[in-house]
Amino acid sequence: MAVIALKCPQYKVSVVDVSESRIKAWQTNDLPIYEPGLLEVVQAARGRNLFFSTDIDAAIRESEVIFVSVNTPTKTFGEGAGKAADLQYWEKVAREILRESRSPKIVIEKSTLPVKTAQTMETILNTGDRKIHFEVISNPEFLAEGTAVKDLLEPDRVLIGSRETPSGFEARREVVDIYAQWVPRERIVTSNVWSAELSKLVANAFLAQRISSINSISALCEQTDASILEVAYAVGMDSRIGNRFLNASVGFGGSCFKKDILNLVYICESYGLNEVALYWESVLAMNEFQEARFVRKMIREMFNTIVGKRIALLGFAFKADTSDTRESPAIYVARKLLEEKAYVAISDPKALDNARLDLGEFEENLELLESPYEAAQGAHALAIMTEWELYRSLDWEKIYASMEKPAFVFDGRNLLDHERLFKIGFNVYPLGRPPLKQF
Ligand code: UGA
Repeated sequence: MAVIALKCPQYKVSVVDVSESRIKAWQTNDLPIYEPGLLEVVQAARGRNLFFSTDIDAAIRESEVIFVSVNTPTKTFGEGAGKAADLQYWEKVAREILRESRSPKIVIEKSTLPVKTAQTMETILNTGDRKIHFEVISNPEFLAEGTAVKDLLEPDRVLIGSRETPSGFEARREVVDIYAQWVPRERIVTSNVWSAELSKLVANAFLAQRISSINSISALCEQTDASILEVAYAVGMDSRIGNRFLNASVGFGGSCFKKDILNLVYICESYGLNEVALYWESVLAMNEFQEARFVRKMIREMFNTIVGKRIALLGFAFKADTSDTRESPAIYVARKLLEEKAYVAISDPKALDNARLDLGEFEENLELLESPYEAAQGAHALAIMTEWELYRSLDWEKIYASMEKPAFVFDGRNLLDHERLFKIGFNVYPLGRPPLKQF
């Protein structure tokens, strides 16, 4: 919304939320989330045509277009628990819009939703006695965290799905007009509502599938002395395959991939498409395998015991340039190491507050430190969890000198210069490449 406000000064954008503390934070320069370039965008538009408030009802009444971006987490209870999307907040908003509206509105699904959700929204909105016309549009968001502002300013595509009726086409045009203020027209794609809803889930499923595919091959590389970097490079050179999203890792994290694939799986199951459900479920199974394999390797290589050993985790965010730790593979790795009675020292430039919450159940044997040098001090091993650039240029000689020997590095992101670390004296375990061992 901040980017829309920035690029469309003729529109008034009101951002409303139930959380008072979050709305307050949006009004300061200490925003509730870290995202490169976001503060500048907010500062440029805030007070001009971008406003933050908790008065949801007023914003509903005065707006002609409403973007609904409430959370749709995986359901934790009842039917579909663990897979289906929890739509309670979504439905609540629909009823609130119906209650407060006095004039026709375009209601835009921005949250990621199961295919066919727009129908529910339409049904609720059309139950009122007042005959107000609502048009429901699906406009899924494709930005990735860490590059959100850039992705919004220069999107690969913007997708707008509407009903294929005269009023649907009209609403579609109005939403296209917003994005056309800065997005080249050929990148604004229109479709029917169901295609737009489904495309979002499918795009995430395909992206996650690429990572699971390359991660599965990283395991095979480690058995065969092939290098995952060379394989990914050679494979990615095929223009039909492409070279992006082929970095093997300790596993993908984030609030989207797992949730959306589970959602897709649940939808397939509910239509009786069990083979399709199993196919996509295996993308998640591969991710779990990769995380588990990483920890198993650490334990095995450190002489099958890590009891009492200090292990430094560099990075806790689910990817670089974000403070977000949701579904971060680092959570799994840290928990497993703690269960094995290791002493875990975690360092991350932005995500320590979240790490503290994620690991709240562990009080002992856990330390959270700003400085990667302090985390590594006295450690037997160090594992890279997040691809923060800054880890490349640490003083690795100094780190080596401060660690217990033999010193191990497990690079869960293939981020570091492994040859160099080996020359310094480390035992280095990349992903999907032969280890560099001193003994
Ligand atoms: C993802 C999609 O990339 C966005 O297009 C989508 O809009 C978003 O979900 C969403 O549904 O809201 P995001 O989860 O923010 O974005 O981050 P990604 O860049 O996709 O990274 C996801 C995970 O995959 C991270 O843990 C990352 O480190 C990992 N990854 C990514 C790899 O392990 N290897 C790669 O080659 C790329």
